[in-house]
Amino acid sequence: MAVRSPVINVMANAALKAARGLIRDFGEVEQLQVSIKGPGEFVSTADLKAERTLKNELTRARPGYGLLFEEGGEVAGTDSHHRWIVDPLDGTTNFLHGIPHFAISIGLERDGEIVAGVIYEPTRDEMYWAEKGAGAYLNDRRLRVSARRQLGEAVIGTGLPFRERGNPPVYLASLAAVMTATSGVRRFGAAALDLAYVAAGRLDGFWEFGLFPWDLAAGLLLVREAGGFVSDLAGGQTMMQSGDVLVANDRLHLPLAALIRQALRDGRPAA
Ligand code: IPD
Ligand code: CA
Ligand code: CA
Repeated sequence: MAVRSPVINVMANAALKAARGLIRDFGEVEQLQVSIKGPGEFVSTADLKAERTLKNELTRARPGYGLLFEEGGEVAGTDSHHRWIVDPLDGTTNFLHGIPHFAISIGLERDGEIVAGVIYEPTRDEMYWAEKGAGAYLNDRRLRVSARRQLGEAVIGTGLPFRERGNPPVYLASLAAVMTATSGVRRFGAAALDLAYVAAGRLDGFWEFGLFPWDLAAGLLLVREAGGFVSDLAGGQTMMQSGDVLVANDRLHLPLAALIRQALRDGRPAA
């Protein structure tokens, strides 16, 4: 039986409370799909409401901690060692379209290092959590990344550039390489859950460019604590700064990284 520490309980309870509101609002969104005005404004209110609940709960439990919230930005705390890094609704576009695949992501940073993470998927009631050195869990089950050794058998998650974001030609070079070398590529639309799915062995790997700290904080710890490897696309550890990330099980990280790097080199326009 997995024993959750007090701080994981604080994070999990905050996520459960915010999720109750999100589930109620998601029910409404499904109705609003067919209205002329659409659910756009309603969803941004749902997002902000979830953020407010999380902020209240986390701040009540740990008053001095700093905050980095997707909507509210950065707020310094009296405790300069600790900071919450939170995405109140990851998978907003799914939520907006009535697609039941979204999550709350909460990371706790201590002196610049993520030491605890919780990702909660309300529609499946799946609570992923990890603490540095103590392993990664889904509800009460210990997680381990997949054991697949061959890229040809692997299923890899990704995030596609959208609207004005990202660099489509560069991204497409990496996609072409991965889709032809593996059993398939999935774009589920919530990066925090993609990372949690790698930790749970559902996906064998995941890559995306240009993510934000709140997409990554909890999920990177989950992957590491489940025995997976984490890097940026150049093989370094700048994920939280660059937003570029590649995670995979311990066997596939190296070949996947080499494949993507080669594709990026080949796809680079001539100088
Ligand atoms: C987005 C999702 C999506 C990813 C985007 C993120 P949001 O977060 O994680 O999967 O491809 O890069 O911005 O906006 O839904 O919180
Ligand atoms: Ca996000
Ligand atoms: Ca978000």
